[in-house]
Amino acid sequence: MDNIVSLCKRRGFIFPGSDIYGGFAGTWDFGPLGVMLKKNLMDAWWSYWVDKRDDIFGIDAAILMNPTTWEASGHTATFADPLVECKNCHGRFRADKLVEGGNESITTEEFKSKNPKCPTCGKSDWSDIRKFNMMFKTHVGPVEDASSVAYLRPETAQGIFVNYKNVIDTLYPSLPFGLAQQGKAFRNEISPRDFILRDRECSQMEIEYFVKPETWETEFEKLLKEINEFLIKVIGLDPQKLRLEEVAEKDRAHYSKRTIDFMFQYPNGEEELMGLAYRTDFDLKNIERVSGKSMDYRDKITNEVFTPHVIEPSIGVERLFLAVLTNFWDEEKGILHLPESLAPYKFCVSPLLKNKPDLVEKAREVYNLLKEKYTFVTWDDSGNIGKRYKKQDEIGTPKCVVIDFDTLKDGTVTVRNRDTSEQVRVNISEL
Ligand code: GAP
Repeated sequence: MDNIVSLCKRRGFIFPGSDIYGGFAGTWDFGPLGVMLKKNLMDAWWSYWVDKRDDIFGIDAAILMNPTTWEASGHTATFADPLVECKNCHGRFRADKLVEGGNESITTEEFKSKNPKCPTCGKSDWSDIRKFNMMFKTHVGPVEDASSVAYLRPETAQGIFVNYKNVIDTLYPSLPFGLAQQGKAFRNEISPRDFILRDRECSQMEIEYFVKPETWETEFEKLLKEINEFLIKVIGLDPQKLRLEEVAEKDRAHYSKRTIDFMFQYPNGEEELMGLAYRTDFDLKNIERVSGKSMDYRDKITNEVFTPHVIEPSIGVERLFLAVLTNFWDEEKGILHLPESLAPYKFCVSPLLKNKPDLVEKAREVYNLLKEKYTFVTWDDSGNIGKRYKKQDEIGTPKCVVIDFDTLKDGTVTVRNRDTSEQVRVNISEL
């Protein structure tokens, strides 16, 4: 993990948030290379789940939502982690993370009976557990009182649920259909950790898939298969590093009747990459109850009226980003074997020597030619050619194109393959 963190900083993928002022725990900034990889991942997701299908539609809802949203969804009451404080050093921790097999509903008695030691001072003198709500509070408008309290959304999902009726009334989609959204979500995590794995500000990609209640099991299985296809075939994750975990009832979110977590083998151990949850009609029924507006769906053929049930595939962009880096990074060789579709740059163009104007001019010509066609092309004339290859290997550029003296004579260039180091001569016109 340390080497991946350092690669990310050294090459401009990810920097600690507000680094210049000493950082800000749980926040990370994506640099020029990171933005490109992140965008490629988000585009791959959007293309697979939205663009290539005709049953899932995109939306982009506001991050700030009417606070009633969170009362109806149950987040105000239950979106909380068990917090304990070490009475000796006053360190604060998530109680369930300090004991073997702990879960979010752990009681003070259970916790203390296991006699965990404080990770900071080693003592075992604990406060009682108290529930700590993870939503970030803010005030909307110029008056800071109880009436102006609002929250940064802790999941993108509710932005979809509050628009379900708008979509039904405008697009008239037939069941099953899904609504997809990508965007920021915020959680006041007690202990952000493991680089970008547990952040206070993250990006989610979520789909709420609305189905006929009696078909939920079939649709759940279909989505499960599609998620596998997306992670393994589209993104290219190694199936050996993935494991599906049926989440036990006591560990499931308050809205879920069945959850399968996709666990990934990260450098610091196995962690949840994404989840597939059967949210039943929990959210639509709560919206109906609190708003007083009907969330009914009328079947166009049978005229049957009912509330759809919902299945939710949900993935964090940062967790996918780290899974991809872990998956494709070859520590020994210092090569990031990204598939071409994900690589920030597809080509790097350089003149063999930067102090030879003829070579530089020709290289610029080739660069412009490729840039026009592929966009994701970079220019590098720093250091010697070996150093340039090393740098491009580390950032995952599949092909380096070098312009040398032969190019001026016969119009051929060297194309070097990142994964095999093989070099071939090709005509510029064949590039
Ligand atoms: N709408 C359902 C939902 O939010 P979740 O399991 O709490 O469910 C879904 O979150 C996904 O969002 C997780 O599988 C993970 O990929 C990502 N995620 C959640 N909390 C995160 C955090 N603090 N930092 C980074 N990613 C996070």
